[in-house]
Amino acid sequence: MNLPCVIADTPLAENIDELLEGKVEILPWDTPAGSQDSSIEGIYTYGHVHVDGPLMDRLPGLKVISNYGVGVDHIDLEAARSRDIPVGNTPDVLNGATADMAMALLLAASRRLIEGDTFARSPEFTYYDPGYMLGREAHSSTIGIIGLGRIGLQIARRAGGFDMTILYHNRNERTDLPGEMGARYVSMDELLGQSDYVILSCPLTADTEKLIGKRELDLMKPTATLVNVARGGVVDTDALTTALAERSIYHAALDVTDPEPLPRDHPMLLLENVTIAPHLGSATEQTRQQMAEISVENLLLGLGGDPLRVRVA
Ligand code: DGY
Repeated sequence: MNLPCVIADTPLAENIDELLEGKVEILPWDTPAGSQDSSIEGIYTYGHVHVDGPLMDRLPGLKVISNYGVGVDHIDLEAARSRDIPVGNTPDVLNGATADMAMALLLAASRRLIEGDTFARSPEFTYYDPGYMLGREAHSSTIGIIGLGRIGLQIARRAGGFDMTILYHNRNERTDLPGEMGARYVSMDELLGQSDYVILSCPLTADTEKLIGKRELDLMKPTATLVNVARGGVVDTDALTTALAERSIYHAALDVTDPEPLPRDHPMLLLENVTIAPHLGSATEQTRQQMAEISVENLLLGLGGDPLRVRVA
């Protein structure tokens, strides 16, 4: 039996391979040879590989694009819409894990956890000194969430548990928030000027690209920390590197960077006041299993010509 052919940026995680086994033939990303390849019916994007209109045009048999993850900034959705190719993604199941990661970064930065871990393992740690490595308070501080969507809302809930004052900025004020959450809608500039922790949890779009640049960093308090669990492209990397080097902000805690990864000799990697994770926002066993299941279901439904479980375009 001929299985439908799908290109993917392999290698895929083992659980995805298991879910796909016997149902599709996964071909390497660079399979389409020549100008057109009509044998390929699906695209499965695993690690943010770029999908644009010209690629879609080279695959006249394309029925579906399925993305492992919620963020689809690497896929040209307009191009897919205009060609009537459904695009699936995996929202919601990763809200909790990504919000946990935002809090983990916030706490690691405020309480100097990475620095403390390095010191605690080093030969220099020979006695306890109550005067060293003082951090900044997380509880009872002010958090400013840029992008109070599904993930941002979960971050706000967690911030409530830390007795934080919660500010947020979206394109529009939300009218559906539970009153007890006490999240206050403010302008971007007010959020930047008042927050001890500025959290980025918005999608990367043409409107949010380099949303945080020199002007915005200058508005932040010198004691404030920037936490990015969105996409690296939301921040101007050069401006952030300068702000950190000049200590015009206290710290940056980044799950994502632009480019990703940063070149190994990038000056940001030498700074002490930055904590960087290798894009681990949704990286828990449980969440990644759900992402695998939804993305595979989307792919198989699309290949069969059926409506996707979750369709983003
Ligand atoms: C997402 O879901 O967008 C994460 O970045 C993983 O791809």
